[in-house]
Amino acid sequence: MAQLWGGRFTKETDQLVYNFNASLSFDNKLYKQDITGSMAHASMLAKQGIITEEEKETILAGLKGILTDIESGALAFSPEYEDIHSFVEANLIDRCGDVGKKLHTGRSRNDQVALDMKMYVRDEIGEIDILLKELLESIYRIMDENVHTYMPGFTHLQKAQPVTLAHHFGAYFEMFKRDRSRMADTGKRLNLCPLGSGALAGTTYPLDREFTAEALGFDGPTLNSMDSVADRDYLIELLSGLSTIMMHLSRFCEEIILWNSNEYRFVEIDDGYSTGSSIMPQKKNPDIAELVRGKTGRVYGALMSILTTMKGIPLAYNKDMQEDKEFTFDAIDTVKGCIALFNGMIATMSFNRENMEKSAKNGFTNATDAADYLVNNGVPFRDAHGIVGRLVLACIEKNISLDEMSLEEYQEISPVFKEDIYEAISMKNCVEKRNTIGAPGEAAMKQVLALHKKYLEEN
Ligand code: ARG
Repeated sequence: MAQLWGGRFTKETDQLVYNFNASLSFDNKLYKQDITGSMAHASMLAKQGIITEEEKETILAGLKGILTDIESGALAFSPEYEDIHSFVEANLIDRCGDVGKKLHTGRSRNDQVALDMKMYVRDEIGEIDILLKELLESIYRIMDENVHTYMPGFTHLQKAQPVTLAHHFGAYFEMFKRDRSRMADTGKRLNLCPLGSGALAGTTYPLDREFTAEALGFDGPTLNSMDSVADRDYLIELLSGLSTIMMHLSRFCEEIILWNSNEYRFVEIDDGYSTGSSIMPQKKNPDIAELVRGKTGRVYGALMSILTTMKGIPLAYNKDMQEDKEFTFDAIDTVKGCIALFNGMIATMSFNRENMEKSAKNGFTNATDAADYLVNNGVPFRDAHGIVGRLVLACIEKNISLDEMSLEEYQEISPVFKEDIYEAISMKNCVEKRNTIGAPGEAAMKQVLALHKKYLEEN
């Protein structure tokens, strides 16, 4: 056990206490950010004349060596160090001797961990953004290929009005587009540098916080040293954004599971993304979609965990905050995995267009259009609603669709109906006439697709 802070202690830490307190087994994920932050700190110390240029060079070379050795596997995270900060510092001292002991001048692990975590999250937001963009590109492609693929639109899981596959997928395009912007907002708001805040009250050294902030790609230094070491808002925002991504993926998965079922048969998930049953030879299960749906709970759990951890702790740093890491890391990895897998699943899925269209045709999805037909011929909407209701009832009794009723049958219920009713309630008409922006009609859809294309080119 190599403690950084052994000086005022007369007794060794109990092994169980040590294990309970230590975080290296999980915060080793922060090694790159920790070393990068230390490099900026050392450069700033030299610039301010707090250490010499020569000492700086020694420290930078030592830190670089540690980074290389960690990445090559030559240096393992051995458990006798409490956390990643102690690990790097102790290794530096091993390599450079006493000069290494100067690195921590004007710094605390409190501002150090705040910095590392912010940089880690910032990097991961960048990766999640790339994955979300790839997902949007797949969705866009499917939309573009299915502007005329008719399918039922549902409310209350009851067939409502016909839409297109492009339109349905377009709803998810909007969701994931918002998710990207939510992630970007979080990245923007977190981008102030806590380094130089010390344990909580700044330091007496003439640190140049603007310099380190800029060197590390931040928009500037944070403005309150207590807040700097006590703030985990950005993790709450991150996990809330990640939870929303999972909620969207989960809804999409739920639909795909339904669509892939025997009852719907709208889609077929590729064999490569399906699994079998150990007992029932006929089964091909949508396990990937189910797992993504299931893992949503895990990410929500991370959000609840950090909210609960933070709610009662007084300023400034408290050890409770070490609990911010494992769930956050897990949530980030989970979300990244889920987006990638989900994207692969929809990109390889096949669409049973005939079944979709057939399903759109029964279930009276054109009833609204029949009512609109009457309105266009002078019947007040509320009366038209009642007339079509009676039509539907008659169809149900005869087990036929609105398209299959004879003109005589129509006219028995209302003389307003003429031969052109069939045209008015045809699937093509029902969909293609809906051309207000955001609707499934071809003209509206093409307009939106052009906007999506531009968005993907520019973002
Ligand atoms: N491992 C700690 C964490 O994750 C680092 C900061 C520790 N600071 C302290 N004074 N104990 O929060």
